[in-house]
Amino acid sequence: MPVISFANAKGGAGKTTAALLLATELAHQGYRVAILDADPQRWITQWHEISGPQRNIEVISEVTVASVQGHIRELSRSNDYIIMDLAGARDAMVTTAIGLSDHVMIPVQGCAMDAKGGAQILDLIKLMEDAGNLVIPHSVVLTRVTSMVTTRALLTIKGLLAARGVNVINTPIAERSAYREIFDCGGTLYSMDTAKISNLDKAQDNAKAFATEVMRLLPVKVIRSSEPRRLFRLVRSAA
Ligand SMILES: Nc1ncnc2c1ncn2[C@@H]1O[C@H](COP(=O)(O)OP(=O)(O)O)[C@@H](O)[C@H]1O
Ligand SMILES: [Mg+2]
Repeated sequence: MPVISFANAKGGAGKTTAALLLATELAHQGYRVAILDADPQRWITQWHEISGPQRNIEVISEVTVASVQGHIRELSRSNDYIIMDLAGARDAMVTTAIGLSDHVMIPVQGCAMDAKGGAQILDLIKLMEDAGNLVIPHSVVLTRVTSMVTTRALLTIKGLLAARGVNVINTPIAERSAYREIFDCGGTLYSMDTAKISNLDKAQDNAKAFATEVMRLLPVKVIRSSEPRRLFRLVRSAA
């Protein structure tokens, strides 16, 4: 039961969008998915409120440093994947969530010169690994990639990250109006009207390719190995 969190110290990187695309695609494929909405702005919670009940998806709001571990323990009994959406911050909540994750996805805008928010999370993970002997697998996910971003530019970014030993998810998340519409209309890419949303099929293919890669990286039966006590010491020192 993998726990996957989406972290970038800056807002607007595409965390919430990528988290929801992954969650809804996994649910579409029949997996039971719990989303922990740990962002005080509650975008996923609002999406859930306008969507109504969604098959295979439950959303937990009001997640705090004190409650997150209990939520994960509880949800792990009845879900195949737990996905955490985090605020654009580097605070105790983000640190705790990272420490409890089997994998941290770090969305970085493919076209952004400023990848500082992503780098801050990479530094935080390094600090937790060095100070606490915690191994926190993580990957950068390139997001909002448009046709303006050339294959060569993407290869350059991947090369730079690889030189730092950072894994990059092969499937970049494209810039698609369908990904904005989900938050306005509710539901999923599969409940939208093909006639009304341009390139919906491409958006579905892209989300599916992303989720397929994540599933390969994190098959359902991952054994959790976090050590809570050490983690909370770390949270105190990092916050
Ligand atoms: N792949 C995408 N295609 C189109 N719009 C996107 C995409 N990713 C994010 N956005 C838009 O960019 C804004 C910020 O994205 P969001 O996922 O909320 O980022 P974060 O959670 O990191 O703050 C939102 O308005 C969202 O709709
Ligand atoms: Mg967000």
